[in-house]
Amino acid sequence: MKIITDIAEMKRISKDLKKPHGRVSFIPTMGKLHGGHIRLIEEGKKYGKTVVSIFVNPMQFGMDEDFKNYPRDLENDAKILRGLNIAYLFSPATDIVKNTETFVAGPKYSNQLEGIFRPEHFRGVLTIVMKLFCIINPDFAFFGLKDYQQYILIKKMARDYFLDVQIIPVETVREKCGLAMSSRNTYFNETDKKNACNFHKSLKKTADLFKAGEKSGGKLTLFAIKELIKSGFEIDYAKIMDKGLSIEKQSVEAGDILISAIRFKGVRLIDNIFFE
Ligand code: PAJ
Repeated sequence: MKIITDIAEMKRISKDLKKPHGRVSFIPTMGKLHGGHIRLIEEGKKYGKTVVSIFVNPMQFGMDEDFKNYPRDLENDAKILRGLNIAYLFSPATDIVKNTETFVAGPKYSNQLEGIFRPEHFRGVLTIVMKLFCIINPDFAFFGLKDYQQYILIKKMARDYFLDVQIIPVETVREKCGLAMSSRNTYFNETDKKNACNFHKSLKKTADLFKAGEKSGGKLTLFAIKELIKSGFEIDYAKIMDKGLSIEKQSVEAGDILISAIRFKGVRLIDNIFFE
């Protein structure tokens, strides 16, 4: 596997991969790879020659967030990628964000859900992903549904800027107990990680209540909130939205989504579930 750190070299390689009719799949990550990332990569491999990037993007972390402590393990990540037969890992230096004077932002959607709690977050995400797209110019890019608001915003960015990239969503990969895999799960000790499984369980119970006939957005939301509190979580938000994340639903239908962020033992987790 070739580890590329230089932007010009990455551009050159990506151009070559597209000759004469090659398709490039791209999976952007912040590393500390786990089963969720691996699922994205496996999916990418089905579509084209695959480039993975690892970059812990300072622009998307708030002042009081965990940029400094964010888990980093490039050596082991490279081992995992070699095991997956990945030929190209792009691991740029911080030059990629240094001196940035223009940004991509999505004010309308950045100011709700995650955006309220992480005001600069999506500006940082959209800007770095746009930069990576400009360097790699992929035909396909893969994003996890765990970060549902991120996926929606990236799709809107690709549409708004007429990018020649197809954004492909990938199902959330979970631990046996239902906890969504996340690089941040490494912050938990074993007991706390076990208790964190109640996050998904609470969302699942709410989805089951919908299945059993409850359609009121207010009642379902209240039920979810009570379940989350019972498990000792501090809730940033728990909301039932339409699948485009445009409106909070009063009357819930199949296809709507319950989307939530909680804090537990100093770790912030996000997750969601679709109503069926
Ligand atoms: P990161 O948290 O490393 O996630 C990289 C990709 O993996 C994202 O598309 C995310 O949604 C997906 N992912 C994470 N956990 C997953 C899981 N359990 N199941 C399925 N997919 C999962 O998201 C980012 O990095 C950054 O914001 C990034 C897009 C790289 C921009 O910096």
